Amino acid sequence: MPIFKTATMETLAEISEEMRMRKTAHLILLFSMGSQFDHLIVQQLARLGVYCLVADPASVRVEDVQKLKPAGIIVSGGPASVHDEPPPFDEKIFDLGIPVLGVCLGFQMWAKHVGAKVTPHEKREFGTHTLKILSADDLFEGVSNGTKVLQTHGDSIEPDSIITILGSTENAPVAAGRYKHLWGVQFHPEVTETDKGAHMYENFCFKICGITDRFPAHNVSKEKIENLQKQIAGKSAEGGSASGGKVLIALSGGSDSSVVAYLLKEAMHPQGETLKSRSQGLTLRGIYIRGIDRPDDEAYVKNYFGKQDWISVEIADATKEFLAALKGKMSMQEKRVAMRDVYREVLEEKIKEFGADFIAQGTLYTDLRESGLGNATGARVAEIKVHHNTGIKFSVPELTPLSDCVKDSARGIGRDIGVPEDLLVRHPFPGPGLVVRIEGEITAERLKIARAIDGIYIEELRVADLYKTVWQAGATLTRSEHTVSKGDDAGTGYVVALWAVWSVNGFTARFAQLPYDFLDRVSRRITNEVREVGSVVYRISDKPPATIEWG
Ligand code: XMP
Repeated sequence: MPIFKTATMETLAEISEEMRMRKTAHLILLFSMGSQFDHLIVQQLARLGVYCLVADPASVRVEDVQKLKPAGIIVSGGPASVHDEPPPFDEKIFDLGIPVLGVCLGFQMWAKHVGAKVTPHEKREFGTHTLKILSADDLFEGVSNGTKVLQTHGDSIEPDSIITILGSTENAPVAAGRYKHLWGVQFHPEVTETDKGAHMYENFCFKICGITDRFPAHNVSKEKIENLQKQIAGKSAEGGSASGGKVLIALSGGSDSSVVAYLLKEAMHPQGETLKSRSQGLTLRGIYIRGIDRPDDEAYVKNYFGKQDWISVEIADATKEFLAALKGKMSMQEKRVAMRDVYREVLEEKIKEFGADFIAQGTLYTDLRESGLGNATGARVAEIKVHHNTGIKFSVPELTPLSDCVKDSARGIGRDIGVPEDLLVRHPFPGPGLVVRIEGEITAERLKIARAIDGIYIEELRVADLYKTVWQAGATLTRSEHTVSKGDDAGTGYVVALWAVWSVNGFTARFAQLPYDFLDRVSRRITNEVREVGSVVYRISDKPPATIEWG
């Protein structure tokens, strides 16, 4: 996704070419203030057929916007506060008369600009709230009073005579407001927890900004396959490869890397083309790294990829290397970094052995964003956790065709190209594996316990027909100990924390309300069957403020 930084002749020409291709005369400019959800705004608008151009608030000036003439402007949320670290932004843009939708921080920014009072709120609002609609406005046409909205903010806007209050929630008297051509919401219409969020964006684009055309949806999978073909062919044409473009892919048995493998299959062996026989050697190799994985991951890789005629599969056992690198490491961040080093080293070794020209990974946009990467704008992006597959410098170029996708869109591509449903519906699993589900030092013994509790939990979810009703579930081995009395014996045992979430794309999540009798059964099985465990608790936090994984 190109970022708009300044309106040079070249960039304006590029943008108008993009608009010609998309058969649209309108665009929405999104100032990305560093929110975790920015990408969802782009996706939301893409679904509506609206071209959304991401702008860098640190470099775009009012003159650039005047030259670009967007139909509307969205200023997103972000980690900054209008009080102590006002984000870089040319506020004259608010005076242009172009319709603006400020989301969370974006709303607070224009509210302060027009003279309203923005104060740090005593009660931070996290989670889903009920929106009371107080004034009729195009933004809420077709949205009923009492709709659910997701808020995550600390500062709030004081009610005064400047801003027309359009809606409020329990802790935010000005949850939605308007001042002339400026609209604002304290909640996030782009996340699935905001029931009518897509509708609000539709109203903003078509009713408020007056957009009259929608670009035809294009075949995303086809585009991704063609891009892969170009990337791989480019290397061969450069003369860099005698092999015709060998690709090594890190397979985890989960949906993202599986989707990438199938995209590569289509790119490297377009339909109808005879596949090279195994004896001639395949140009696509999958590597599964053993060591910190779940009990059944390896079996999935072997079952679904082990016997194909378009990919060869190798299992690399890195148990010893992982344990050595993780020895003495206590914090989740330290462990994530140590795990990533082993991951890189194993893949580097395999790249050399195979003579690969490329390394492919199932990296998602979510992974990049949470690692503090993603849109290359000047706004500060919070580093939440370093994902195992981001920011690694490999010796060969990376192929990451899903790096602009989130979980649901990646699954959509998978369905389009025939990835087996069984792989697509597997719960997501983090690349750092059980490392982020074990508190404190990772040892062989604690890995064994983590595998055992995961095995029981997931098995029971399947038996109870609950597996597919939750988006992701996991069992964390904590460092807390609980006094136990097993039989006549007494002592201490670890506390295990179970969690399960409902989500669509992993950006936000609600804790799943699993039935008590189910939790009862799992708890009994774990405390009975896993000697080292003393008690079991269930986590009831949403994301935000928590994240899905423990670490
Ligand atoms: P969090 O815990 O950040 O997770 O709310 C969002 C989704 O991403 C998965 N996750 C990871 N996936 N490498 C990955 O490939 C990682 O380092 C990583 N960390 C978290 C997590 O399981 C959830 O589905």
